Amino acid sequence: MNSGRDFFEFSAGKTEFHSGANLIPSIGAAVVESLGARRALVVTDENVAARYAEPVRASLETAGMTTGLLAVKPGEASKSLDGLAGVYDALADLGVGRDGAVIGVGGGVVTDLAGLAAATWMRGIPSVLIPTTLEAQIDAAIGGKTAVNHPRGKNLIGAFHHPRLVVCDVATLATLSDRDLAAGLAESVKHAAIRDESFLSWHEEHAADATIREEGILVELVRRNVRIKADIVLCDERETTGKRAMLNYGHTIGHAIEACGQFDLRHGECVAIGMAAAGWLAVQTGMLDATSADRIEAVLAGVALPVRLPSPVSAEVLQPFIALDKKAVAGVARFVLLERIGHPVLCDSVPDGLVRKAVGYIQPASC
Ligand SMILES: NC(=O)c1ccc[n+]([C@@H]2O[C@H](COP(=O)([O-])OP(=O)(O)OC[C@H]3O[C@@H](n4cnc5c(N)ncnc54)[C@H](O)[C@@H]3O)[C@@H](O)[C@H]2O)c1
Ligand SMILES: [Zn+2]
Repeated sequence: MNSGRDFFEFSAGKTEFHSGANLIPSIGAAVVESLGARRALVVTDENVAARYAEPVRASLETAGMTTGLLAVKPGEASKSLDGLAGVYDALADLGVGRDGAVIGVGGGVVTDLAGLAAATWMRGIPSVLIPTTLEAQIDAAIGGKTAVNHPRGKNLIGAFHHPRLVVCDVATLATLSDRDLAAGLAESVKHAAIRDESFLSWHEEHAADATIREEGILVELVRRNVRIKADIVLCDERETTGKRAMLNYGHTIGHAIEACGQFDLRHGECVAIGMAAAGWLAVQTGMLDATSADRIEAVLAGVALPVRLPSPVSAEVLQPFIALDKKAVAGVARFVLLERIGHPVLCDSVPDGLVRKAVGYIQPASC
């Protein structure tokens, strides 16, 4: 089995990553070895609780730890100040002190919520993340960003707090729907597009067929993504130099598609359409050759991700959301565009007229 450990030394703390299959039974020993904590609150959601969080808890207890379990409602609504207050209540009830830990078991909603609770409880205690969606294994659990949402916008309340230990057990992905697995793959294609042309070839070879669900393939997928994301974060931990912003590839228009509220699409599906738009923009501005843009679109379509909107939406509807993107500077949208595969550039001078045309490009084929 292709499993392993990676260690990343961020300036704000070290993170140890374990990736492999069927790791949950040994999590207790790993947590005791790497943290030495004796008491921990396991935070999860109701979908994940019985299947994965209870076995995690059993493993922790077998390793001699005292644990509590909090299962929030599945979905983005739990990533809120109310949801966070619920975690604090559970930490207080369990008597978790500075020598304790928060253990998040679930998708990105749970890892973001558990991470922020750990970042702030008693001014910061260690967190352990056990991501159970592909999105969380290759993106949300890496890099130390934690957050909850505010009614005015996503992820507006948060902190940087690196988890001490991340355990990616690909066996948990077996219960993820094909649609959710594909949505996670969008971030993987993104990592390949901005960092590693050979990884894009890997997707052409493996990601489109049924072998993607093989555990060995999934472990390789997770490890390559974790390394790419951690390498980028190591260059720009607090997103101050523009290097980490490259991870926003496909997200400027992707977030606008998500935020406009007109579509029932997963985050990764919005990002896939956003990458198609970014590819078109880069070709139009003369930065990228059309063959490379077509290649990325083909990889996305090959894993059953959308590269066009499911129904028409006008540029008038989308453009205000593009200008409001969190990464916009003084109302000017910032795009990550490719010069070639693996070579992204941050652009804040894409003319509005061209952005309108990019919105035209991603309309459904019949429009
Ligand atoms: N912190 C970061 O850097 C970062 C990066 C990317 C995304 N995020 C955040 O992550 C969140 C999205 O994460 P997500 O896509 O994992 O969504 P999610 O956490 O909502 O999970 C999606 C659904 O899958 C279910 N689920 C989880 N694991 C499962 C499994 N193994 N089998 C079956 N069902 C399972 C969940 O209960 C939920 O219903 C967003 O809030 C986003 O902002 C954060
Ligand atoms: Zn994303």
